[in-house]
Amino acid sequence: MAPHGEGSEEAMVVQDENRKPISSILIIIAMQTEAMPIVNKFQLKEDLDSVFPKGVPWVRYHGVYKDLQINLVWPGKDSTLGVDSVGTISASLVTYAAIQALQPDLIINAGTAGSFKVKGASISDVFLASDVAFHDRRIPIPVFDLYGVGSRQSFSTPNLLKELNLKAGKLSTGDSLDMSPQEEASIVANDATVKDMEGAAVAYVADLLKVPAIFIKAVTDIVDGEKPPAEEFLQNLAAVTAALDQAVTQVVDFINGKCLSEL
Ligand code: ADE
Repeated sequence: MAPHGEGSEEAMVVQDENRKPISSILIIIAMQTEAMPIVNKFQLKEDLDSVFPKGVPWVRYHGVYKDLQINLVWPGKDSTLGVDSVGTISASLVTYAAIQALQPDLIINAGTAGSFKVKGASISDVFLASDVAFHDRRIPIPVFDLYGVGSRQSFSTPNLLKELNLKAGKLSTGDSLDMSPQEEASIVANDATVKDMEGAAVAYVADLLKVPAIFIKAVTDIVDGEKPPAEEFLQNLAAVTAALDQAVTQVVDFINGKCLSEL
């Protein structure tokens, strides 16, 4: 068998896959407020006969838009507390289950995020993340430190970035809305412009199962601004979902009829 790497059988299969028109996309969104405008825009219908294990709160919406089969998966409400199941644990679980059940060609993780005025960000800016990493997994032992940070490049989409009015920046993920001084130092070390609670977890699972993934994040709060992030986030959430919805629609329209290598 040919060795792995360029020119190998495996690399040729990947090249062929990248030249086929994209037919199935999976949109992963953590919050209902972020998801519903997109569900309505594409007239997606809730799956009543779930592809997920019985009893989990995960919700799939699906439909056909132009030449694309669209699945949108939301981890649903925490069954005890009734709030959106945000964060890395739910994000990894639904990503894994949805890839297994739906075999998408491309994953889009969309949602809101915090950003930084020192990086020139403003409320409602929409970023396409070039790289993702964690900022709350500190393991100060050689090599485990790198495993903890879990830095990954997102699938490269230079034409999409050029064509649409999106900003480029690195994304850092952690399981808290606020940040401790140590996490702030890790975000700086990750050179991140946007901060969310799911991206790097989705990237980890997508990488495990070899599905290309991109990350679209709309800014609800300026983390180094005057207002407490939680207050600013809640204040802007509904309005910023309009910017997110518009960006996701533009991205889906751009993807339609193209293959991965054209993105
Ligand atoms: N989502 C929206 N704002 C956020 C923040 N400041 N940190 C993490 N996730 C967010």
